[in-house]
Amino acid sequence: MHLLVTGGAGFIGSHLIRYFLGAHGDCRVTNLDSLTYAGNLANLRDLEDSSRYCFVKGDITDGDFLMRFFAETRFDGVIHLAAESHVDRSIANPTAFAETNVLGTVNLLNAIKASWEGDFSGRLFYHVSTDEVYGSLPAGEGLFTEETPYDPHSPYSASKASSDHFVRAYHDTYGLPVVISNCSNNYGPFQFPEKLIPLFINNIKSGKALPLYGKGENVRDWLWVEDHARAIDTIYYHGKIGETYNIGGHNEWSNISLVRLLCRIMDDRLGRNAGSSEELISFVTDRAGHDMRYAIDASKLKQELGWVPSITFEEGLAKTVDWYLSNGDWLEEVTSGAYQDYYEDHYGKR
Ligand code: NAD
Ligand code: DAU
Repeated sequence: MHLLVTGGAGFIGSHLIRYFLGAHGDCRVTNLDSLTYAGNLANLRDLEDSSRYCFVKGDITDGDFLMRFFAETRFDGVIHLAAESHVDRSIANPTAFAETNVLGTVNLLNAIKASWEGDFSGRLFYHVSTDEVYGSLPAGEGLFTEETPYDPHSPYSASKASSDHFVRAYHDTYGLPVVISNCSNNYGPFQFPEKLIPLFINNIKSGKALPLYGKGENVRDWLWVEDHARAIDTIYYHGKIGETYNIGGHNEWSNISLVRLLCRIMDDRLGRNAGSSEELISFVTDRAGHDMRYAIDASKLKQELGWVPSITFEEGLAKTVDWYLSNGDWLEEVTSGAYQDYYEDHYGKR
């Protein structure tokens, strides 16, 4: 089986590739990634000598490139993660989100359709999406199901919602075999330190302020990233074509409660006085259009395919802290920008 993963040098993609290669000895994976600021080949350092793994630098916004690329190789399946993924960046520069997340996905669908035309049997296009397409839930009430109407609010979630619609349209119009999953907030190793958990770990480590938006009351449903990789694997092999599956941790935390827990773990690990990291919390101006609460009903995935999360948040957060503290070089390279030399050092000039 030859699988293409797009966005494999990012946070979730790198875990997914590692999971697939570990779980399926008969599987080869090609990783197509343009290496934006979020793409880091050091996330896959342990796999680079594997004969079953290959990296190709390429941009999904370049439709001509994709047509040539897919004409050369007929992949058995494609798992599409490449995206601009950070809500705050989408507020600052929405166009990049439309280009990559919407147009890039349409380019990919066109190239795959051309490559597979007439022979869809045994093939699958798997689109990795987000719970943010469903909008915002009121505090303490309701869950997102697969039937919840789309109601995106940020440019990021609007672009992901649009890409989901295109994927479904290619299934309905051309019969392309697709599946979509919408997942809640992921956390774990290799997450770029602009997202809440790694940003705050890094700031606590260096004694910097922890900028909590608004009153810190917004709620997210956190999932250990390896559980997301395992869910994608389960859906890839056992899900039904044309279906959507929600993936979530059954694990809601307000930002302030999460940050207090994180501070306690950090104080313990760094040998600091209890309560000292909490003093770094600084309430700042709220994110524009900040969604109040996300919470996933993942019962379809549990009942139909038997997937459930594997670890508690307390365990996962402690593992995450330990990983960042013992991988100071990775964090230092990412925060200094030195990680961007990795491609040229290993693959030659960009
Ligand atoms: P990430 O930002 O860490 O990684 C994105 C990857 O895509 C990077 O390697 C980047 O170089 C690559 N990329 C970006 N633009 C590209 C382009 N034009 N061409 C080729 N490659 C490009 O993102 P992530 O957090 O790993 O998220 C991966 C996917 O999962 C995204 O589609 C995101 O919407 C979705 N998702 C993320 C979460 C989460 O909590 N992080 C939750 C649910 C769904
Ligand atoms: O729900 C899934 C989504 O989760 C994914 O689709 C996105 O790709 C991913 O980035 C994430 O989006 P969020 O906006 O929820 O994640 P983020 O880590 O940016 O923020 C989590 C919460 O913390 C959110 O309520 C905003 C808040 N926050 C975030 C940052 C970076 C702060 O209070 N301060 C901060 O500095």
